[in-house]
This record gives sequence, structure tokens and C-alpha cells, in this order.
Amino acid sequence: MKRIGVLLSGRGSNFQAIARNVRNGSLPVEIAIVISNRAEAAGLSIATDLGFPAVCLPSKGLDRETYDRQLLDELSKHNVDLICLAGYMRLLSPAFIRAFPMRILNIHPSLLPSFPGLDAQHQAVEHGVKYSGCTVHIVDEHLDAGPIILQAVVALEGNDSADTLSARILAEEHRIYSEAIRIVASGNYRIDGRRVNPGVS
Ligand code: GAR
Repeated sequence: MKRIGVLLSGRGSNFQAIARNVRNGSLPVEIAIVISNRAEAAGLSIATDLGFPAVCLPSKGLDRETYDRQLLDELSKHNVDLICLAGYMRLLSPAFIRAFPMRILNIHPSLLPSFPGLDAQHQAVEHGVKYSGCTVHIVDEHLDAGPIILQAVVALEGNDSADTLSARILAEEHRIYSEAIRIVASGNYRIDGRRVNPGVS
């Protein structure tokens, strides 16, 4: 069974959804380690309370390369095969990404390539789009830009605020992240250029 390492910085609801699916057997992976770069992240206490191995590696004051070396050490201690960013709000260094080529997944709350970066739901509301959603993609060296595994579409309503839109997108995030991890962990997919094709290997 593939061993996943989860990196998070905050609330941890995506991690919680993944953990639920691991526990109920619908997502056949092992959660090898949960790492938070912030001690106060709710996701860290959720992981501990659920009995998963979890540590805080504080990132404050450390440059990216130094911090990412610590991350890599921790991940290799736990023999991680696949990394899942779940609300991890730091950029990863090229050296880190090269250490796990095509084996880092991220979830982003927009239909990429629209609205990369911070506050994607706010950007979508301000732009006046009629549809937004979420994207699970493979992390490459560019921000929110790697090959797309799955997306889900959410329609905007006339009176949406960033908060109301975020809540509907989040429900879809919780669904598609586990589905994307299942595809990658099964190995039953092929990457042709930017295209991720599930069901062919
Ligand atoms: C999620 O909406 C996730 O898509 C977003 O942060 C939130 C984390 O929530 N990630 C990004 O914006 C990454 N660029 P969670 O901690 O409850 O999973």
C-alpha cells in the first residue's frame, strides 16, 4: 500500500476528509505522516486526535531550502511514496520538487489555470465568473500549474460572497481529493505531456 505524507498549514478539513476515507477503507493508502509548518494548525490536532503520526516542523524564520531539507528528512524517515499538500501555504523549493518528481499532489480552490495563488474564491467572485470549482494537480516548479488530475465545477450564485462560494467548493474538494489520490496511488494512469489519463497505464 502506498504511504502518503500530508503537508498542511491550517484548518485541515481536506486532510480530515482523506483520513475518513482511509479509515473507512475506500481510499487504500496509508497515512505515514502529517506535517504542519504551524504549531497552531487545527489540522495538526485533528491528526493527533485521530491517532495518525503527526509532527510540527515550524517554518518561521527559515529560508525555503533549509526548511525543505528538514521536510525531506522527516518524510524519508517515514518512507513516504506520495505527498499530498492539503492547505499547505508555502511554496516548495525546486530541490524538494525534484526529490518527488510527479509524486506531489495539491488541491486548489479554482478551476486552474484560472485564479492561481491566494484567495482564489475571492478572485473568482470579483471577476464575475459564472463557474468556478477546484482542481487537484501534480505539483511542478511553477505555482498552481502542473498537470491536472481532476476538477469539479461549482456554479456561482448571484449573491455569492467569497465565503459562501468557498463552502460549496470545499464540499467538492473533499470529494475529488481522495478520488485523485486513489488514481495516483493505484498507478493506473499515464501522463502524456500535460495530460493525465486515468485508466491507462
Ligand atoms: C482549501 O480550500 C484548499 O483548496 C486551499 O486552502 C484550503 C485549505 O483548507 N489551498 C490553497 O489555496 C492552495 N493554494 P483545509 O485546511 O480545511 O483543507
